[in-house]
Amino acid sequence: MPKKYRIVVLISGRGSNLQAIVEACLSGIINGAVCAVISSNQNALGLERAAKFNIPNSFIAKNTNEQKKNYDKHLCEVVRTYQPDLIVLAGYMKILNADFISMFRDKIVNIHPSLLPKYPGLNTHLRAINAKDKKSGATVHFVTEELDGGPIIMQGSVPIFSNDSSEQLSRRVLEIEHKMLVTAISLICAEKIKKRKDTIYFENKKLSKKGISFNHLMEQR
Ligand code: GRF
Repeated sequence: MPKKYRIVVLISGRGSNLQAIVEACLSGIINGAVCAVISSNQNALGLERAAKFNIPNSFIAKNTNEQKKNYDKHLCEVVRTYQPDLIVLAGYMKILNADFISMFRDKIVNIHPSLLPKYPGLNTHLRAINAKDKKSGATVHFVTEELDGGPIIMQGSVPIFSNDSSEQLSRRVLEIEHKMLVTAISLICAEKIKKRKDTIYFENKKLSKKGISFNHLMEQR
């Protein structure tokens, strides 16, 4: 087994994905430990969750113009002190700037609640329902300068039922998000997933643009 990965998680809110990651680290499913949680929102429930697990947690303020201007630089400095092997955006609602992304190139992953490339950005569930899609899901991908556009590691889908509200769909997708994010991170920390330039390799085999199918992976287990 490779050395234990040092994971920094960036959040903005509830932190249910964070909780799934921490529990999977503690139970040994993920070969890593969450060494810090950083929030863009002072009142994020995820900060309380981190505190309960005694994980260093902080909030970076962006109230004044000066703070706004220096936000990414400050974030970069704070993240760097933890020397992370992996940075996970788990419900992080701020766009990272190019300097941050290039500083931690190939080490940042994001979970997005849609089947990318469909519906990058916000309100994904409502957009999928309005488009009368038959399925939705979530995507774990490497972060590049393109918003929600980096190479896809894994996708998992769930059905959309005819009377679904956006909340109902969001609950169904969240359930798969927790499992999928843990699975993707566990594969990265076991060094079974590698990124070279824009291509992802899973156990040394080139992945298609859609990444690993989480549903297929689960059927095989
Ligand atoms: C998740 O749906 C995630 O995909 C999206 O924001 C939500 C965060 O939920 N980017 P939580 O904070 O992990 O509970």
